[in-house]
Amino acid sequence: MFLILKMLVLFLLSYIALNLYLFWKRRQYRHIASFPIPISLKWFMGHLPNLRMRINQAPEENFMQIVGEYQKESGEETVVLALFTMNLVLTLDLRIIPKLLTDRITFHKREILKQTLGWCGKTRAFGNHGLLSDPGGDVWAAKRRIMDPAFTRSFLRTTMDGMNKVAERLVKVLNTKAECGQAFDISEFLDRAAFEAISFCGFNWSEEMAAEHGDAALKMARVMVQLTAVVFKNPLSFKNPWGRLPEKEQFKNAVQPIRDLSRKHLEKIGDKAVTENNVLSHIIRGNDCSDDLTMEDVIDDYNVFLVAGMETTSITMACAVWFISMNPHVYQKAQAEVKDVFGDRDQICFEDVQKLVYIEMIIKESLRLKGPAVGTTRQCQSHGTSINGVSFPKGTKFNVPYFNLHVDSRYWKDPEVFDPERFSPASMKNIVPYTYMPFSTGPRNCIGKNFAILEMKVILANIFRKFVVVNATPQETDLMMLGNITIRPKNGVNVRIFTK
Ligand code: HEM
Repeated sequence: MFLILKMLVLFLLSYIALNLYLFWKRRQYRHIASFPIPISLKWFMGHLPNLRMRINQAPEENFMQIVGEYQKESGEETVVLALFTMNLVLTLDLRIIPKLLTDRITFHKREILKQTLGWCGKTRAFGNHGLLSDPGGDVWAAKRRIMDPAFTRSFLRTTMDGMNKVAERLVKVLNTKAECGQAFDISEFLDRAAFEAISFCGFNWSEEMAAEHGDAALKMARVMVQLTAVVFKNPLSFKNPWGRLPEKEQFKNAVQPIRDLSRKHLEKIGDKAVTENNVLSHIIRGNDCSDDLTMEDVIDDYNVFLVAGMETTSITMACAVWFISMNPHVYQKAQAEVKDVFGDRDQICFEDVQKLVYIEMIIKESLRLKGPAVGTTRQCQSHGTSINGVSFPKGTKFNVPYFNLHVDSRYWKDPEVFDPERFSPASMKNIVPYTYMPFSTGPRNCIGKNFAILEMKVILANIFRKFVVVNATPQETDLMMLGNITIRPKNGVNVRIFTK
């Protein structure tokens, strides 16, 4: 009896101590707007039950979109959510965002990205220092310095043969679709083209290698973005070593073959790889920046560039095709530009791509409305940090939902309307800084941005030159997106195409 009483008192004291600790933690954010937390025995959970409910109600939404909803509802520029012991600050404040995104010493990416993309259970995907998910310490900085030149103009110029080849292969397959005249999902073919662009032009894969391993690489990319989203939403159940998530096994089965293949590829090309001038040679040199990095770290970045390089561009191209198919006047203008630039030729050179100004405007507008990367995260590394008079304790976690900024009516006229003219050279100067960031900005921006734009312009220009694309489901006036770590068209992009 006495023992039970003792246990009860201990439990009560622990409960009080936990609540006092949480009360102290939450007080540190009392100067930031928040939502009321219901007074109940579960007060210590904060907004977590409500967030869980929203995640369950919207299983197809990305985490960033779900928390972005809080932002909209609050009507505040900056709002804090109390999630058990964690406080998550959501901000759209243009006086705070520049500092968050440009000061890489004070603000790293959140560790959760490394925990989900780096390792899924015991399966290594991007590891501890993969360029995308490394929070951003000295190793990341040294690597990025070495890898940045991978995407200079002189390298991009050398990719043109590869880019033309990818476009040619795509046109060939699409011709068969045009001949049969049936509706089909073009995004599958764009996935393949995006994969070929990064593997041919970035990693010197041969056509045979792509034919043999392309499906496995595409599967890895898809599984990684889907499953890491599951982990992102359930970090606790995933970290639990006894947790039997079926996703862990699926993840392993998808990632392991590509790691093995990258290892074999690296062994086969040996020292030759370093002397070349492509993405892979920069990855190898980048991983020489510290003695602590091994061959496994090179493989991490091999996977980072494969996955980051194909998912994003293929999604963007699919959305651009959908917008084009719904906006015939835009399509006509794009086709006129392409005709002008190509003339009678089948291939274009690097200088020609710079002339595809309108196609680039279409890509930029598609990225504004349906950009695959919907936001970013940061975590404060220093005590006494204050931005524009607002103080943030060390460890503060931030989410910046780009998605909300891209359709904010304070910065965009008729934000829901697809209008490439917003990005005409004359209109670009009207865009408010930090309201358009599909490739992020600052030191953690997208390293592959110029590669992506070049690739998308070459591929889209070839589609528009050869085919008339007609939407097969015009009654669907919006393109439904499915939220993983990135967002992608939920039901693909169903079209019919006709040869011109
Ligand atoms: C439309 C295409 C693309 C979009 C919209 C896009 C978007 C982004 C965004 C928003 C980030 C920052 C992510 C964050 O803050 O967590 C990022 C980072 C990154 N992207 Fe891209 N990306 C695209 C294409 C590519 C391509 C083609 C490559 C590779 C060839 C690539 C490689 C990377 C890498 C390695 C990083 C991490 C950079 C670092 O943190 O140092 N991306 N991308």
